[in-house]
Amino acid sequence: VTKIGVLTSGGDSPGMNAAIRAVVRTGLFHGLEVFGIMRGYQGMVEDDIIKMESRSVANIIQRGGTILKTARSKEFFEHEGRKKAYANLQKRGIDGLVIIGGDGSFRGAQKFSAEFDIPCVGLPGTIDKDMAGTDVTIGFDTAVNTAVQAIDKIRDTMDAHDRVFIVEVMGRDAGYIALHSGIATGAENILIPETKTDIEAIIHGLTEKEKRKKLVNLIVVAEGEEFGGGNEVAKVIRQRMPNADVRVTVLGHIQRGGAPTCEDRVVASHMGYYAVESLLLGRRNVMVGVINNKIHYTPLEKAVKEKHKIGTEWIKIQKILAS
Ligand code: F6P
Repeated sequence: VTKIGVLTSGGDSPGMNAAIRAVVRTGLFHGLEVFGIMRGYQGMVEDDIIKMESRSVANIIQRGGTILKTARSKEFFEHEGRKKAYANLQKRGIDGLVIIGGDGSFRGAQKFSAEFDIPCVGLPGTIDKDMAGTDVTIGFDTAVNTAVQAIDKIRDTMDAHDRVFIVEVMGRDAGYIALHSGIATGAENILIPETKTDIEAIIHGLTEKEKRKKLVNLIVVAEGEEFGGGNEVAKVIRQRMPNADVRVTVLGHIQRGGAPTCEDRVVASHMGYYAVESLLLGRRNVMVGVINNKIHYTPLEKAVKEKHKIGTEWIKIQKILAS
């Protein structure tokens, strides 16, 4: 490869800028020309592509969001869109791509590289941590720490009022943010999509507390959990326990923003460096991950198909620690 393009796609995540910086600077170090593709695949379709220099990525390692912007492109889903995108790459001689995003973005990359002769390397950029082939994703650490800080604050007021508090966190179909933030804040209950929710046991526990006039309880709920989120869980509890003082907070997009943590900056820098190295070594259509602190390559196809595996033993441990 001699000219590479880098883009961020799907939901943004803190640390994406650090990854862009690493890709650009590693590429330049090797004498490559590096192009930034704006708004994910949409910018590739619309020819919104800019030349990147070392200074283009100065002073961004500490910033949330993505300087390249991001989007979920409908046009790129169609063959016609991908054809246009490829023509725009060819025009500049771009012969390698680094895609920073989640599984939807990798599916796009897979399709694209199957139809056109272009090597793609993916970096897992998502707060959800729902990727196979890596222990870490860029943005998870920041998002979960933002959730922890917010839940700690909620706990203060919850405790002062002896209330039942339900906090909904993000994660799409995955429960990592809920599980980790729930453990770290000492939540009494954590509801995640990967395990069946025993609502009867929760109601029983709350009723016992109510009898003892000590009904203070923190429930962390993943947005993708079976009841459909925090408000739905609250509805069930309110129906069954009309005297309980229940409040709901949905943390929402606050979890996507903010300065990346040290961990996310380091992970993004590490992965960004290896994205370019692997293109230079002729690796195609792989995701760069980190397993047991070592760089690990997973075929994109496998990364999008295989299910992430959450350590559900934590649910058992959490129940003991919160009892
Ligand atoms: O994938 C990241 C994520 O923040 C999920 O946790 C959440 O379900 C989704 O994106 C929200 O998407 P949007 O920003 O389009 O509302």
